[in-house]
Amino acid sequence: NKTGFIFDLDGVIVDTAKYHFLAWKKLADELGIDFTEKDNERFKGVSRKRCLEILLEMGGIKATEEQFSAWLVEKNEDYLAYIDAMDESEILPDVPKVLKYLKNLKIPMALGSASKNARSILEKVNLLSYFDTLVDGNSVTKAKPDPEVFQIAAERLGVKPENCVVFEDALAGIEAANRAGMISIGIGEANVLTAARFNFVDFTEIDSEFLNNLIHRNIK
Ligand code: BG6
Ligand code: MG
Repeated sequence: NKTGFIFDLDGVIVDTAKYHFLAWKKLADELGIDFTEKDNERFKGVSRKRCLEILLEMGGIKATEEQFSAWLVEKNEDYLAYIDAMDESEILPDVPKVLKYLKNLKIPMALGSASKNARSILEKVNLLSYFDTLVDGNSVTKAKPDPEVFQIAAERLGVKPENCVVFEDALAGIEAANRAGMISIGIGEANVLTAARFNFVDFTEIDSEFLNNLIHRNIK
């Protein structure tokens, strides 16, 4: 009856939400769409394609298929230019501490991300080796809040969904984890991630006692 740990990437392991925002903001400006950090909250955890659909809905813009694809490419190229310069300094506080602790105990660990850039980001920040499997935007057909990404992760880890712990910073991700019947842990503002089973501002608040309780599912 082992426990599996699943981590979202953007906003949980690395602070890439700011780069996604800057890249979307640039496209929004070009299209004359007002796009704020608050709007960006809705983009967290959401696939690239779905983000563009939301952006165009916000601006009341109808795009041809060609335009749509071209804008997706443009956004991603701008985003890649930002992440190209990333290194270990952009890992969020105490993430390596938690990953190391779990790895030493041989706890199965997966990445569960909507991003198609997940592998290259993990390589850049040197965290790839912690994960037994990566489930990312290339492995799923249904985007969060659909639970598919976490269900695939649980399957690959050989852990039952109810024995999985999910760390998420996005509304859509918490909903996906809850729908999968997993233990959801919100990273970020508790007043935003109200549906999470537990809330923490970041990993500095997560100690070994709490991790042990999760591993043994000694939780209320
Ligand atoms: C998620 C981010 O992790 O990945 C979203 O929170 C992003 O904001 C999504 O849109 C897709 O990422 P990518 O790298 O495939 O464009
Ligand atoms: Mg995220």
